Amino acid sequence: MSALARCLNLADVREHARRRLPKGIFEFIDRGAEDDEALAHNREAFRRIKLKPKVLIDVSSRSAETALFGRAHAMPIAIAPTGAAGLVWYEGELELARAAAAARIPFTLATRSMTSLEDIAAKAGGTLWFQLYVWAERKLSFKLVERANAAGFEVLIVTVDVPVAPNREYNGRNGFSLPFNPTVRALLDMLAHPHWLLNVMSRYLLTTGMPRYENMPGEHRERITQGGKPLTSLRGDNIMWDDIQELRRRWPRTLIVKGILRAEDAVRAVACGADGVVVSNHGGRCLDSAVAPIDVLPEIVDAVSPRATVLLDSGVRRGGDIVKALALGASAVLSGRPCLYGMALAGKMGAQHVLELLRQELLTAMGQVGCPTVADLGPEIVDGAAAKAARSAEQVRAFA
Ligand SMILES: Cc1cc2nc3c(=O)[nH]c(=O)nc-3n(C[C@H](O)[C@H](O)[C@H](O)COP(=O)(O)O)c2cc1C
Repeated sequence: MSALARCLNLADVREHARRRLPKGIFEFIDRGAEDDEALAHNREAFRRIKLKPKVLIDVSSRSAETALFGRAHAMPIAIAPTGAAGLVWYEGELELARAAAAARIPFTLATRSMTSLEDIAAKAGGTLWFQLYVWAERKLSFKLVERANAAGFEVLIVTVDVPVAPNREYNGRNGFSLPFNPTVRALLDMLAHPHWLLNVMSRYLLTTGMPRYENMPGEHRERITQGGKPLTSLRGDNIMWDDIQELRRRWPRTLIVKGILRAEDAVRAVACGADGVVVSNHGGRCLDSAVAPIDVLPEIVDAVSPRATVLLDSGVRRGGDIVKALALGASAVLSGRPCLYGMALAGKMGAQHVLELLRQELLTAMGQVGCPTVADLGPEIVDGAAAKAARSAEQVRAFA
């Protein structure tokens, strides 16, 4: 039996990925920031929420079909943008995009990916979203927006929750940094993981050479082993609300702001022309004492829905978590690490396995709470304060 077939849930997949990947790369994708408190708290917040199932409802036929921005999808999940996915598997972004297309869900390509957005658009198929970091030298970001538009990406996600580089001391301890300048310890770590050496690094070295950040503008399109040029033009610490308005003027299709944790910021994003927000703490990778997105979801839904679409990410690991997020007003969730773990085992097949596990768990949880379709998931199935907040928001909307 293959390693993949032995993985019956996402925790199994993560554990196999831990063994397959060099420690430096595994911790780079798996951990959070500083003391990993936000990472743990994201899970704890989901765990605290309990459901009150409805009974004696015909759930013999269940469907996770979901409409998002005028498109039908197989389930309420989109693949979140993850920079450096190309280090987990050879041409990792393309593998992820193909897995998403096969699962009929959207794939989000990160700015800092190792496959160019044009290549993804030409080769992946499916619904493609593009994630943008706004840089100090705005014209470099606007150029990317033009490229994503020309390549036909359907949604632009602007990430706003990384104004400054987060503290991730574990990368230093593991001798893993970007630019990639491996220490002896990191080299030994890589040599001890032949599966990764064979399936990822050797394939790059035998074909295109060391991966590059293919979406970066001209002089910044360096191989991961290069770097050291002053990066003042790529800083992100002066992005402001005007930038969202400017992007609205430049981007003709759906615009989303990712990294919102406050209701008034969600309102402001919508006032600047955003069609939606992602309630997110970047999977706990930035501010280590950030609130858990699921805890602030109801007040954000209350503030902007149904005018704008509310998505959520950070810590989704079970179908039941998706049920909780949708019951509290999210239209869908983004998923980051789980597909990376899957990909570490078997590229596209591994990511697809993860998505299928989530789909099956979601359908099971929907049956258990008496909600045969995603439209049936409402705040009345959630116990406690979060549900109360979401219910009163729903009543306000009903009277509006
Ligand atoms: C390895 C890694 C790289 C990431 N890179 C980006 C990025 O380039 N841009 C971005 O907006 N979010 C990035 N994220 C955050 C994800 O988009 C998403 O918010 C987060 O992973 C959700 O949490 P989850 O991993 O618990 O699903 C990254 C996450 C990981 C794990």
